[in-house]
Amino acid sequence: MKINYSRQNIDKNDIKLVIKSLNSDLITQGDFVKKFEKDLKNYFNAKYAFAVSNGTAALYIGCKSLGWSKNDIIITTPNTFIASANAIESVGGITELVDINELDNCIDPNKLENKIINLRKKNKLVRGLIAVDYAGQPCDWESIRYLANKYEFQVINDNCHSMGAKYNSSLGYASKYADLVCQSYHPVKNITTGEGGSILTNKKDISDKVNILRSHGIERNRSNFRKKKNVPNWYYEVQDLSLNFRISDINCALGISQLKKLNKFVKIRKKIASIYDDTLRNIDYIHTPKKISNTSHAYHLYPLRINFKKLKLNKIKFFNYFFKSGFKLQVHYIPIYKHPYYKDKYKFKENDFPNTNKFYDDVFSIPNYVGLKKKEQLKFIRLLKKYVQK
Ligand SMILES: Cc1ncc(COP(=O)(O)O)c(C=O)c1O
Repeated sequence: MKINYSRQNIDKNDIKLVIKSLNSDLITQGDFVKKFEKDLKNYFNAKYAFAVSNGTAALYIGCKSLGWSKNDIIITTPNTFIASANAIESVGGITELVDINELDNCIDPNKLENKIINLRKKNKLVRGLIAVDYAGQPCDWESIRYLANKYEFQVINDNCHSMGAKYNSSLGYASKYADLVCQSYHPVKNITTGEGGSILTNKKDISDKVNILRSHGIERNRSNFRKKKNVPNWYYEVQDLSLNFRISDINCALGISQLKKLNKFVKIRKKIASIYDDTLRNIDYIHTPKKISNTSHAYHLYPLRINFKKLKLNKIKFFNYFFKSGFKLQVHYIPIYKHPYYKDKYKFKENDFPNTNKFYDDVFSIPNYVGLKKKEQLKFIRLLKKYVQK
């Protein structure tokens, strides 16, 4: 078994609660889903929380709940998993990309404002933004909120990497600054439900839409029915189109148990990160993630950068070497504009994204997860130093 950049950590309490859920009357739409949502609200200080089938579903429902639809201009970062952009496309939106900044590797607020101004000059108004807290590092949320208020666009925080991160000392920053927040509980993430995700928001009108859209668009609240008179008790109605994005109680039982350990998990990831910081930061042409004063990184990923060009190293050979040595590294991410679907549709110019291009050349994710053994980490560090210093 190769050592991956991340993986789940499951203990006997997780297993016990999952077994309990399997023995309950309802294994979907039951009490474990409700309890998980309540715990999410408490932990992330959000007024409303909805557990769904995965993070991609959360993004899709999120876009629809904000009313984003055909030909709406939505901006996102090129340095993200494809799901962030695919959600925009899936509701018929027009995807615009803005480069990252070199400090936090998240969307650059200055470049974002320039983009908005340039679009306005062409009479194009931006409807929304999906900002991604890349690797577990919160974006510059104060600047993003300021721009959202100034130019009147809605904001989703793709928070899939950053559960357990803090911004201005708050674990619940995401739903404070964004209109809607999406999380993923895939096994590589900071907590897992197997597959799963959630939507958090502080806004009642948005929460009402999310609640309906996660289950076929079915409206069950009688006071919202179009037809008011002689409504039979079996009746429900669909006013907006959606599909089934529900999550089971079995997954949520795991989520309840995992969420209890999120603080501990992030602490362990931070400890592993600090060992990488201390041992790698002073090596020429190696760059460890920068520290940003008002934030606390959740280290879903530890993105290490090596200037392969300066060191005259080949990144493919480097990956193969580590694979043969037992380590399965990964690159996060292939920039959105490099994927043929986006390239063909939008004719993005790579020169518009100098920081993302450079980042993609240099970056890769190294092992950081709960359960990574100290001797495995030290072996990785030893091999890395030997490789780059030979
Ligand atoms: C930034 C980001 N957004 C969205 C997703 C989608 O989440 P899921 O895999 O749960 O659908 C992921 C998952 O990898 C992600 O990393």
